[in-house]
Amino acid sequence: MNAMLDIRNLANGYGGAEVISGISFSMAQGESVALLGRNGAGKTTLLHSLFNIGPPCSGEIRYKNQDITRQPTHRIARMGLALAPQGRGGFPDLRVRESLGLATLIPRGPAAHPCTIDDIYRRFPRLHERRHSLCANLSGGERQLLALARALLTRADLIVLDEPSEGLAPMAIRDMLQPELLKLRDQGYTVLLAEQNIDLALAVAGRAIILADRRIVFDGGVDELRQRPDIQKIHLGL
Ligand SMILES: Nc1ncnc2c1ncn2[C@@H]1O[C@H](COP(=O)(O)OP(=O)(O)O)[C@@H](O)[C@H]1O
Ligand SMILES: [Mg+2]
Repeated sequence: MNAMLDIRNLANGYGGAEVISGISFSMAQGESVALLGRNGAGKTTLLHSLFNIGPPCSGEIRYKNQDITRQPTHRIARMGLALAPQGRGGFPDLRVRESLGLATLIPRGPAAHPCTIDDIYRRFPRLHERRHSLCANLSGGERQLLALARALLTRADLIVLDEPSEGLAPMAIRDMLQPELLKLRDQGYTVLLAEQNIDLALAVAGRAIILADRRIVFDGGVDELRQRPDIQKIHLGL
């Protein structure tokens, strides 16, 4: 299989205690995968392992047939992976325009998805309106658009989003976030989306992976997961 991302036997943890273990899965180009699991299941730890943030992982991570395991984070970014991190993040003292400008500084060769700041302003008129605002003054929804915009500006091929819906009002999720995530999928980006919001995940992803008890306990199509309330109840507490 010509996988874009191939994770084999990944494990990681803190202070000798494993949080994730024996994690193996692949993602094809253009695939949109939701990474689900309760709070503390290890979603962020898994995503951070891809970018070599935090404790070094064991196992193997291949991206476009190159071994990127424990490579320096800046090199991973340069190869075309982008992380929109969990939480409020960003640089509160910068203006939106400056924060976007920083994201353009990651040097990359020719990219499948070129993106300029003008493209971003067309794609997110809201960020254009807010370009002179301090990031600290953005609403939760605007902040998530900014995180996504910054990921797009690196001209990444694999976009990794860590719980973009966290802390957002249901209306902001429905009207601001969900349409943008659908757009990513329709435009052929490869997306790995960690979420606790199952409705959002099922609406925008084609496949779901559930983490529980350190392992992958489900890996299948979102249609299959929709029809498995038992799995949703046991592993996601719904
Ligand atoms: N920096 C850290 N130091 C120690 N334990 C951590 C750290 N980050 C996360 N953990 C623990 O690892 C587990 C998984 O956390 P995390 O990967 O953040 O889960 P999720 O993103 O699914 O909510 C939790 O039990 C959490 O308390
Ligand atoms: Mg997390």
